[in-house]
Amino acid sequence: MADSTDSKSSNQMWGGRFASGPDAIMEEINASIGFDKKLYAQDISGSIAHATMLAARGIITETDRDQIVAGLNTIRGEIESGNFEFSRKLEDIHMNVEARLATLIGSAAGRLHTARSRNDQVAVDFRLWVKEELGRMEKALTALIAAFLDRAEEHADTVMPGFTHLQTAQPVTFGHHCMAYVEMFARDRSRVRHAIDHLDENPLGAAALAGTGFAIDRHMTAKALGFREPTRNSIDTVSDRDFALEFLAVAAICATHLSRLAEEIVIWSTPQFGFVRLSDAFSTGSSIMPQKKNPDAAELVRAKTGRINGSLIALLTVMKGLPLAYSKDMQEDKEQVFDAAESVELALAAMTGMVRDITINKDRMKAAAGSGYSTATDLADWLVREAGLPFREAHHVTGRAVAMAEGKGCDLAALSLADLQSINPAITDKVFDVLTVEASVASRTSFGGTAPSEVRKQIAYWRSRN
Ligand code: ARG
Repeated sequence: MADSTDSKSSNQMWGGRFASGPDAIMEEINASIGFDKKLYAQDISGSIAHATMLAARGIITETDRDQIVAGLNTIRGEIESGNFEFSRKLEDIHMNVEARLATLIGSAAGRLHTARSRNDQVAVDFRLWVKEELGRMEKALTALIAAFLDRAEEHADTVMPGFTHLQTAQPVTFGHHCMAYVEMFARDRSRVRHAIDHLDENPLGAAALAGTGFAIDRHMTAKALGFREPTRNSIDTVSDRDFALEFLAVAAICATHLSRLAEEIVIWSTPQFGFVRLSDAFSTGSSIMPQKKNPDAAELVRAKTGRINGSLIALLTVMKGLPLAYSKDMQEDKEQVFDAAESVELALAAMTGMVRDITINKDRMKAAAGSGYSTATDLADWLVREAGLPFREAHHVTGRAVAMAEGKGCDLAALSLADLQSINPAITDKVFDVLTVEASVASRTSFGGTAPSEVRKQIAYWRSRN
């Protein structure tokens, strides 16, 4: 049907970079080499393990195996020294490596793909990559937790306002606040470890989807590749991307924690709060307003969360409609994971630097801790404990004391004993022991509470586990 009208309309349709027609469009949409070349090392390790096993089982000769292994090692060297020419015509990393192997060693290269398919091959490569990435994330989280433990120890006695609804609630210590982040990042690390545990199964040998009639040894390749054991169902093996989804979910939750911390740094570093001062290393000046110091690194950490959460939703959406087993849709898994991995690693590194470098303004924190009648609960608790009032009544009495202090424009601790006794005669001068912020935090000795003694116990707990 190549009449002139058709070729004109197709030229309009393919126009621009697709001037050469359907072949070019197919190559563009189909090829993954642009991003999956990142998997070269895992692809080569997977192939070496496979060839070694094939020879051990007598499926290929030892001579072929030696040629294949030597060729693959040469290719790894070529890629690492930048002397490998990746071809988009060859689609992906698997075909690029195999084609080069054929050029290097000739016909033996054709035996490597015995009892294997690109479907199990890509599953192996990607699982190995995600496993390594989770290992990097685990280390980065450990470094961030260590930074927080040091700051918590340094500031176990530093008082600051604790907030709910971002309104001053009760005094806490900065050390305790730091330890809240230790809990969050320790949970992230535990999710990372679980994700490693879940993915630690060897897909190699599932072949296209049904397994193979060759007498392969999947336990042997599992061991060689550092997997705990082989996967148990060949259909599931080539259609499963839970390991990528779990990585993205773990990264998204961790990024959400990082974002909350970033938000606090942004708020605390404003002149209005003045709780912290960022080092020059993690902030920038304004090109027009000389007085400004902007928390750019914290803002970018907060923003990276959007990308990472987006990657999780993107891959969930790719997977949700796929019939078993492999579909090419699954090629879209890698860019999301690579992008999220880069973002979460960078965000963790930036945050670890900020936590270590940030200067704490204890005076501002202390002044703010005492404002807003933050020890009102301590007064109410004192009335319950020392004067035997029911809590609801103590709450009411305290409300009147706060109203009186507000009327006089002073803190609760600045009211006179006579003032307080005019509200409730049972109050004695012992009450002043609990109205300071230091007394307030020191009294919160319940397990997990903000008392410095308790915070030091929690620091010791995590130090022995970090
Ligand atoms: N590039 C492909 C991917 O990333 C490799 C698997 C291709 N398999 C296939 N049957 N076409 O998923």
